[in-house]
Amino acid sequence: MWHRQIYVLLIWLLYACNNQGPTALELEKPSYYPEVTNIPERNPLTEEGVQLGRQLFYDPILSRAGTISCATCHQQERAFTDGVSLSMMGHSRKPLTRHSPSLVNMVWSQEFFWDGGAKDLESQAFSPLTHPDEMAMNLDTMVNRLNNHPVYRSKFNQAFEIDSISSAYVVRALAQFQRTIISSGAKYDQWKRGETSLTELESSGLQIFESKCAPCHPPPLFTDHSFHNNGLDSTFSADKEGIYLGRRRITHKEEDLGKFKTPTLRNIMLTHPYMHDGRFRHIDKVLDHYEFGVKSSPTLDSILTSDGSIGINFDGDERQALIAFLQTLTDSTLLQNPQYAKPAK
Ligand code: HEC
Ligand code: HEC
Repeated sequence: MWHRQIYVLLIWLLYACNNQGPTALELEKPSYYPEVTNIPERNPLTEEGVQLGRQLFYDPILSRAGTISCATCHQQERAFTDGVSLSMMGHSRKPLTRHSPSLVNMVWSQEFFWDGGAKDLESQAFSPLTHPDEMAMNLDTMVNRLNNHPVYRSKFNQAFEIDSISSAYVVRALAQFQRTIISSGAKYDQWKRGETSLTELESSGLQIFESKCAPCHPPPLFTDHSFHNNGLDSTFSADKEGIYLGRRRITHKEEDLGKFKTPTLRNIMLTHPYMHDGRFRHIDKVLDHYEFGVKSSPTLDSILTSDGSIGINFDGDERQALIAFLQTLTDSTLLQNPQYAKPAK
């Protein structure tokens, strides 16, 4: 009799173990980084969801011709940018209108795209997936392909406990993976943790940075997650569905004309070309811009006119020091981190 009971218990245990659902994943971040508060309740991080998202991020199956993945334009070895001003790697091979930004520390962002046109990573992903100049995918085709794929069905089942894949879960998985991409292994971080010291040049670069750049690019994330006009242009064309209008395209407010999202400066020596349209190929050109190139317009940020003249003045070897400091933001552990790399098939 008791044999039978044990047998039933074993079956029950097996069943229970198989039905625990996905495993919750705790994000690791340095103590001096802000708390993580932006993960939507409907899409908590799980081991299975993140791994699935990583596989999808690298899989060209998500593009119409099966040739383009997210990683085509967001490459780990370039801190998840692509090294060109305007990509021509999309489905149509037409140049995009904006430069591909780095995807590090996205878990602290609340607005995505250069004009903040997407409110979360889940909705953001629909744009590259379906845009004719990016992955040009039809969402029904995508879902059919995934549902008929030998492994994706069971992977989605493990991650989300669903029997049939829908596009909402594709973007959830992608968002989960991207939320785990944290860059915090630069020399700057080793210094913050007391593991190394900055050279004299780097330290004076930090001081210059703090007075001249940190108002908009504050450490430790080196972005204020806000929108500014940093003087790249004096007029803003309404062509191409308003993409040159900056933040105004989204808010329709005149005061937002020509304002773009402050990009992070983490890994900045790797993420050239620079600015929303990739107009500057080299960091020297960026500093030339801030010193000599700032253009006046009604929405130009007042920080850039605060010392009576327009732009930011650098004396003596200040530029050299600033660049030495910016170099301490390069995180080579990010570039090699196997957690972010293309998974083995
Ligand atoms: C053909 C190149 C290309 C492909 C493919 C591509 N992206 Fe992008 N990505 C861009 C460009 C360009 C932007 C900036 C667009 C803008 O701001 O208007 C961008 C912006 C983003 C952003 C916003 C980052 C921020 O700081 O605001 C995220 C997140 C992102 N992409 C994720 C993805 C994901 C996920 C995929 C795959 C589903 C993907 N991208 C595929 C080029 C690409
Ligand atoms: C008034 C706010 C403000 C100040 C001050 C400021 N920046 Fe920026 N920075 C921005 C914004 C906004 C952008 C993006 C502009 C765009 O692309 O339209 C940007 C872009 C950049 C970029 C390009 C990043 C990329 O990934 O394309 C670099 C590099 C940069 N800034 C460095 C600096 C340095 C160095 C200083 C100090 C000398 C500085 N910034 C001061 C707001 C500011």
